[in-house]
Amino acid sequence: MKVTLSILKADVGSVGGHICPSAELMESVRQTVKEEGKGIIIDSFISHTGDDVAILATHKLGINSEKIHKIAWDAFLAGTKTAKAQGLYGAGQDLLKDSFSGNVKGMGPAVAEMEFEERPNEPFLFFAADKTDPGAYSLPLYLSFCDPMHNAGLLLSPKMTKGFKFTIMDVEHSDADKVIELNAPEDIYLIAALLRDGERFVVESIHSRDTGDQAAAISTTRLHNIAGKYTGKDDPVMLIRVQGAFPATGEVLSPFTIAPLVAGFMRGSHNGPLMPVKMNSSISFFDGPPVVCCLAFCVHEGKLTPPADAFDHPYWDWVRGRVSEKAQEIRRQGFFGAAMLPYSELEYGGIVDIMKKLESKFKVRK
Ligand code: F6R
Ligand code: MG
Ligand code: MG
Repeated sequence: MKVTLSILKADVGSVGGHICPSAELMESVRQTVKEEGKGIIIDSFISHTGDDVAILATHKLGINSEKIHKIAWDAFLAGTKTAKAQGLYGAGQDLLKDSFSGNVKGMGPAVAEMEFEERPNEPFLFFAADKTDPGAYSLPLYLSFCDPMHNAGLLLSPKMTKGFKFTIMDVEHSDADKVIELNAPEDIYLIAALLRDGERFVVESIHSRDTGDQAAAISTTRLHNIAGKYTGKDDPVMLIRVQGAFPATGEVLSPFTIAPLVAGFMRGSHNGPLMPVKMNSSISFFDGPPVVCCLAFCVHEGKLTPPADAFDHPYWDWVRGRVSEKAQEIRRQGFFGAAMLPYSELEYGGIVDIMKKLESKFKVRK
């Protein structure tokens, strides 16, 4: 059977600052998906990562389905209504347009979708990150699809001998999608040259070159490019099919041990390490650190198993301890140098105003 997996995610309000949505907000989203999804959505799972609510839905309507996007839009509106009624912070923050126009892409919510013929067994991973942007997935994706140091299957499995095709988007080009296709292994230096810059180049999808099947779909939204100014970090979602012609689950999880420094810590304006967290985790230290959660599912005829929480394991407790130390290290230098983002990526105009004021006070020595 052909099935579509859709993740649609938005921040529509949170408790006590940018910490987590309320139980009531989550319930409004869940109820709307249940009611409006009758006869359309086969199965769904609703969770939050920090202040972002993600709807995972299975259906037969393909990607970019107006019906599915409308249900999600209405669910986020219902969540916003509850957020306003409870006085939650940032109610409706990610809904950047007033009325629905056929597709939530470009309206604020983040979207990752994939349509495929179900294998007899179909394991896949759902990722959601908060306090960061889509570039946060670039290093883990590069390592798990290109590097035998993390993906032993590239050496051991006859199903991955041809490698993978990366489709990478230049997210600075906001008039239309500007993409490039590059092949691993022969293009890995070119892939690395682009992915080095996570604020500009973002992986949109990955396909197996052995079977042609899609392995990964990543949300590429930059709220900045929609609103023309910063309205919060993009907090990306991602789907990855695993096993068989794709990397094993552990090969996809392995690079998350590194916890790379990514943009999005405090006020969306600092770098911090990407901490792997459990399902429905909140946000804390310095409005961060940036977090990522991973839920592992199997799907059969569109029906989802309950998720296995991939980062809920003693190994990841050890990693979290080390990531906390890494967060401390960069925080020790406060506003200085690499700790704070460059001007173009700051979420606030304050520094620009300071620079303007100071400019007139500078004197050029004769
Ligand atoms: C992302 C997030 C941050 C905030 C940013 C602005 O989930 O919460 O990117 O959007 O810190 O916050 P305010 O609106 O409080 O200035
Ligand atoms: Mg937020
Ligand atoms: Mg968020």
